[in-house]
Amino acid sequence: DYQKVYNAIAAIIEDENYDDGSYGPVFLRLAWHASGTYDINSKDGGSNYATMRYKPEAGHGANAGLGIARERLNRVKDQFPEISYGDLWTLAGVAAIQELGGPTVNWRPGRIDGEENHSPPDGRLPDAGRADGQHSRDVFYKMGFNDQEIVALLGAHALGRCHRDRSGFDGPWTASPTVFTNAFYTELLGRKWVERKWSGPKQFEDKESKSLMMLPADMAMAKDKEFRKWVEVYAKDEKKFFEDFAKVAQKLFELGV
Ligand code: HEM
Repeated sequence: DYQKVYNAIAAIIEDENYDDGSYGPVFLRLAWHASGTYDINSKDGGSNYATMRYKPEAGHGANAGLGIARERLNRVKDQFPEISYGDLWTLAGVAAIQELGGPTVNWRPGRIDGEENHSPPDGRLPDAGRADGQHSRDVFYKMGFNDQEIVALLGAHALGRCHRDRSGFDGPWTASPTVFTNAFYTELLGRKWVERKWSGPKQFEDKESKSLMMLPADMAMAKDKEFRKWVEVYAKDEKKFFEDFAKVAQKLFELGV
């Protein structure tokens, strides 16, 4: 009974005693990293086998910090052992979007638990330090997404933050990191972004308050003409963003299933 599992996850998301006040953002990041390893050519990777349970993929640099989400969700798995890990993690991603004020995402079960030999190779997820649109295209086209879908997916950065001890980057993208909105786009277009002078990896801060951040890969969405067109659409029209995000999130979470 997936509604019961959903309710158990939703209760955790509402537990304010974590990070900015919710486990939602890190659950969504887990669901995305579990799914975004899909390759349309080799037709492997994706959310099906939940291979991040195994050492090779858990140890991929991009997945630093996601053990926190997996461990928290293991307690739900103990309560509902019949759900597969892939279903559990993607349902947690959907719950994060919905419970934090985002659109309703159509979710279907059916993933099965795989073996370690189903693990995808390292390097299929995007490199946050790459500011060229070509890198984002290379990585997301291999998952089967187009330019509009790439920009819609990045709107997830309305939620959560970067952590020094995980990715090495630091800070939130928006002032309300536990509310799902189109603020990623409005902040990206509405502020002046300058390179942060610090000892960490290259990232951008908003000139005025210095409290918000953008990754080099986020800045590519504003710089690249084709991407920027969609940033402008979603900044103006949150309803359109919600509709497009709901579709692309379902597609993401079903990669490889
Ligand atoms: C070019 C593509 C992307 C890059 C380079 C990127 C990079 C990053 C990085 C570096 C972090 C910080 C991790 C940490 O230090 O805790 C992060 C966090 C996050 N990302 Fe992305 N990301 C991308 C796309 C996406 C997509 C497609 C989604 C979901 C649909 C997503 C959802 C999130 C969320 C929710 C967080 C916050 C996690 C937390 O607060 O713990 N990202 N991302």
